Amino acid sequence: MRLVHVLGTRPNVVKMAPVIAATRERLGPQSSVIVHTGQHYDRAMSEIFLEELGVPEPDHMLGVGSGTHAEQAARVLERLEPVLRAERPDMVLVPGDVNSTLAAALCADRLGIAVAHVESGLRSFDRTMPEEINRVVADHLSELLFLHSAEAEDNLRAEGVPAERQRFVGNTMIDTLVALERRFRAREAARELGLEPGGYLLATLHRPALVDGPLLSEAMEALDRVAATMPVVFPVHPRTRKMLGYGRDRAVILVDPISYLDFLSLEADAAGVLTDSGGIQEETTYLGIPCFTLRDNTERPVTVRAGTNTVLGLAPQRIAEIPDLLPAVPAKPPQAPQKWDGRAAQRIADILAGR
Ligand code: UD1
Repeated sequence: MRLVHVLGTRPNVVKMAPVIAATRERLGPQSSVIVHTGQHYDRAMSEIFLEELGVPEPDHMLGVGSGTHAEQAARVLERLEPVLRAERPDMVLVPGDVNSTLAAALCADRLGIAVAHVESGLRSFDRTMPEEINRVVADHLSELLFLHSAEAEDNLRAEGVPAERQRFVGNTMIDTLVALERRFRAREAARELGLEPGGYLLATLHRPALVDGPLLSEAMEALDRVAATMPVVFPVHPRTRKMLGYGRDRAVILVDPISYLDFLSLEADAAGVLTDSGGIQEETTYLGIPCFTLRDNTERPVTVRAGTNTVLGLAPQRIAEIPDLLPAVPAKPPQAPQKWDGRAAQRIADILAGR
């Protein structure tokens, strides 16, 4: 069994690191080829993650970089095709819901190569999000769908995806968190920033619907108001930085993107987290940290049911309510969703080895 794993963005690395490790162990190191599309390319967005998570150096770097959705997808299609023709894998594994995921799935499908989708079956039911289309297309092109939560089965059934293609394996991002837990707990990322563990709000915002328009300055003003009550630290994604720039003093502590171990350390020690990211909704659920999601919907309702995640809506003025909302989030240890247990990648490797 020869596999090609396609990585494109920072969260792709987090989701695929355990899958690459488990399939290499189960099927042998020669079984898997790693392709990095280069959708994310800054050292802080890519290499640091590969190093910290122990992902071997990619065999192929496609260097697609930034651009419109069409440009990004087109470059992946054009540059991945000769790689797949030369490598002739039995299967291409694509994680998540980014533009690289969509393009890699389509490229493999057109060459008659089987596709497997890691983190399958999530739905926000909001087709204005590029990620939603990317998920739907990746799922429908896949011969094997590795489901990340029980509700994914309902979503896929409703779209007529045959049950025999589906395997409920769990969440590989949580595998990574579990594997790194000892290391990130030993870090003191909060103290290094002069923050008291348990006493600050961690914020991350990067989605176009929020940061590419006027809502971003509303959100920053609301965060400045929260900062009068409790410190706010905000590691800034490059897309957000482009809109914010470096000028103007703020009450919020703005830092450049940080390593994954430092981020997990900040997350685990936060009083609460404000985000529009999908992965952070999941990590906070596992860690039992209150999360406030600045979006109208979530493709991860399992995190809301777990009690840790509150969907605020795409309404920046609501950020100011967070200090008052925090005490209402139950302090009990969360019940981790089914199969978010650190063994999802192992299940994937077992399934692939059995084919
Ligand atoms: C992408 C995903 C999003 C995911 C996010 C994780 C799509 C449609 N979106 O969004 O779902 O949550 O990754 O981070 O695929 N940039 C840099 N350096 C980099 C990468 C990007 O400066 O290494 C800047 C560029 O100005 C670029 C912008 O960030 O134009 C956006 O990057 P892009 O990869 O297009 O989308 P993300 O916003 O990162």
